Amino acid sequence: MRHLTLLLGLAASLMAVETVATNHSAGYWYEAIQHNGINTETTNAKYLVFRNVKDFGAKADGITDDSAAIQKAINTVDGSTGTRNAAGSLTGSPAVVYFPAGTYLLKTGLKNIMGTILMGDPTNRPILKAAPDFRDRVVLAGHGTSAGGLVSFFYGIKNFVLDSTAVSPTKTIVLLENNVSQACQLSNVMVSMPVGATAHTGIVTAGQLMPLLMNDIQIVGGGVGYLATALQLHLKSWQFTNVQTGIKVSDTLTQATFQGLQFGGCTVAIDASSGGSGHLTVIDSSAVNTPTFLLAATTTTMQGSLVLENVIVDALTVKIGSTTALTGSVAPGTTWIRGSIYTNTTSSQTVSPSTTHRTSRPPILINTTTYSYHTVSPPTYADIPPSQILNVKSIPSLPVLGNGITDDTSNLQSIILSAAKNNQVLFFPHGVYILTDTLYVPPGSRIIGEAWTRITPRGSKFTDVKRPRAMIRVGNAGEIGTAQVSDFLMYVPSGSEKLPGLVMVEVNMAGTKPGDVGFFNTHFMMMGGTARLCVHLKETASVYWENSWATAQGNGVGGPGFAGGFLVEARGGTWMVGVGSEHHFLYQINIHYAQNVFLGLEQGESPYWQGAGNALLPPAPFTASLLPSDPDFTWCPATDAKCRMALYQYVTNSSGINLYGGAFWNFRAGPSQGLCSGDCQTNAVLYENNKEMYSYGIATINDRNMVLETGPRGSVKTVGAVRDANFGEPLPGFTIHRPAFVAGYLRQS
Ligand SMILES: *[C@@H]1O[C@H](CO)[C@@H](O)[C@H](O)[C@H]1NC(C)=O
Ligand SMILES: *[C@@H]1O[C@H](CO)[C@@H](O)[C@H](O)[C@H]1NC(C)=O
Ligand SMILES: *[C@@H]1O[C@H](CO)[C@@H](O)[C@H](O)[C@H]1NC(C)=O
Ligand SMILES: *[C@@H]1O[C@H](CO)[C@@H](O)[C@H](O)[C@H]1NC(C)=O
Ligand SMILES: *[C@@H]1O[C@H](CO)[C@@H](O)[C@H](O)[C@H]1NC(C)=O
Repeated sequence: MRHLTLLLGLAASLMAVETVATNHSAGYWYEAIQHNGINTETTNAKYLVFRNVKDFGAKADGITDDSAAIQKAINTVDGSTGTRNAAGSLTGSPAVVYFPAGTYLLKTGLKNIMGTILMGDPTNRPILKAAPDFRDRVVLAGHGTSAGGLVSFFYGIKNFVLDSTAVSPTKTIVLLENNVSQACQLSNVMVSMPVGATAHTGIVTAGQLMPLLMNDIQIVGGGVGYLATALQLHLKSWQFTNVQTGIKVSDTLTQATFQGLQFGGCTVAIDASSGGSGHLTVIDSSAVNTPTFLLAATTTTMQGSLVLENVIVDALTVKIGSTTALTGSVAPGTTWIRGSIYTNTTSSQTVSPSTTHRTSRPPILINTTTYSYHTVSPPTYADIPPSQILNVKSIPSLPVLGNGITDDTSNLQSIILSAAKNNQVLFFPHGVYILTDTLYVPPGSRIIGEAWTRITPRGSKFTDVKRPRAMIRVGNAGEIGTAQVSDFLMYVPSGSEKLPGLVMVEVNMAGTKPGDVGFFNTHFMMMGGTARLCVHLKETASVYWENSWATAQGNGVGGPGFAGGFLVEARGGTWMVGVGSEHHFLYQINIHYAQNVFLGLEQGESPYWQGAGNALLPPAPFTASLLPSDPDFTWCPATDAKCRMALYQYVTNSSGINLYGGAFWNFRAGPSQGLCSGDCQTNAVLYENNKEMYSYGIATINDRNMVLETGPRGSVKTVGAVRDANFGEPLPGFTIHRPAFVAGYLRQS
């Protein structure tokens, strides 16, 4: 009722919304709207969040060298010279560097800066074209120099064509080197290289990186399309055309899930034969006119484990060393596995060079024509005119400040209801929006942020540990419709008050098709304080959740971070694609009485301060307020600090669960948070009483039991998979060389 009255007052003020005409080409709405985002972490009132490269002298005429103009747009603080963020900071330097359509000639390479999105016009992707006399090795460095790759967070690149067709095929050149980890985005990029140019490499991720997800990429020509030496990643919807080697993997630490890859006219689709690979899962992919699909290295250990499912090829499928392991397609309904397998028919593990198993997929999760899991591209709202965008900071009668100080809850609520009713896309300019109570997101909502717009909770509404309360509630149970949220950071700053009843996002809603309800490129960061849960997908929800990192950076001193990362109880179809969840106290991802869940790569880490010597033993300090879904650790001895550690993946009483890749590494443990090796954590994954659950590609480091199965009331039923049977070698810290791999865990299928 309260909202209805507010809506009436809103109609008039909406008429006054104006867009500032700074448009150069009138393509994408984002180019044309008012730009009033702010950086709350600087005293420089002239700080620019939005930069249009044309305002910095870029010509986009395909003739002028635009390198310096673009680099100035990236570097500048407030439009004058000066370099933003030289010292490096996680979130203190937000910027979107926008490229209108056109061809930008480059003679020298570009370097991105932390906190920055390089964004092209998605209605007509701008071309970054290396000049014939291009001087550097790398055309675009997706990361800056302020931090190592493993902690290179908050970098984005979207809607571009990278082009080296004017460069000599014999010049060694990399079009995009993207040494980044979580909370980054690479989306909707085409790489165009001369066909046959073996010296040209499309995209490289080099080093110990966790880039989580890279999606919707097209690569044409060149020697290697994508060169991966990263640790953990998920690729979704890539096309390789006339590339010599589509993907080259050359690191035994690499664990990757490849989904929806199409190869045409390549010599080799995926080459992991030199340097090896850790574990690769390839699903819903195809190759035509490509003599070899996958080349793997020979190995006596579990490195190089492989899972192929719904892979349609017209030639040789898998060759290991010089031995052909598989020819022909891996048809829908079956899974081909090389590596360590735990089936439901034998009690023990088998290590197999080549076997085929049955896998069923819940019909609700797949396109029944192609059998592939549904995928959705992150929305850009490219077809929407500027007049249909509502900037939350543009309604004089409902002021919203996003300044990190003022409580924006009530006016934001009115605006969200109005935008949904009027079919407007709601734009949150960069800033920090304070919420002191639940913000309800109704059916009909499409909400988009800017350079990870921050939402920060505050206040007494979120303090009741026994009655967790949502900061953002997407729909009510039974509601059906659209609710999409993109490009946000749910952020609890360090030194925050304790909010032990806080649930950052709760979803109850379902759509009429996959992605109607979706979260894209939205992350969770907890720098201090206490809270309950990042994400709760409740029973009635159906959500597509992509590229998301939920991290509790709080070190546990003076109180733990979140109790849990993601809690999935949804039954209507859940897709989680490229999700990281780290340092939560009881679990990272919990799938509980859920049905129909697809989980692509899950990256997880335990809280560094748990483990030997830690006195705050889970489920403490939540013992008195455990939810029915929380693990209670009754399978652990009372004082066993290595057993009482957060589970990376906890799946109980669920059905129709398809899991493709879990990377569960323990780096540090104990109150001193020192580097740890060996039996740092007793149990990584816990499965109990599931049906039709298929878990492929579990990797652990320094966890003794990879999978534990429990029975009623937490009794230990089986230690399902131990590290030592899966060739894991305890080696210290970042010099680890050998994770343990289980290719297929099918005991609850
Ligand atoms: C902005 O774009 C509109 C078309 O959408 C056009 O009519 C107008 O002239 C443009 N303004 C400028 C300043 O280029
Ligand atoms: C990316 O990382 C690799 C390995 O550390 C390094 O050799 C390379 O120079 C980095 N790329 C850029 C563009 O900085
Ligand atoms: C299923 O895939 C087919 C073939 O690609 C496509 O035409 C159709 O639109 C897809 N259906 C859905 C519901 O996505
Ligand atoms: C799973 O279901 C069984 C049987 O109903 C029950 O005993 C057990 O407590 C449940 N486990 C969890 C974690 O909810
Ligand atoms: C698991 O066992 C059941 C019979 O108990 C069988 O129908 C099913 O096919 C098995 N699953 C796999 C993946 O082997």
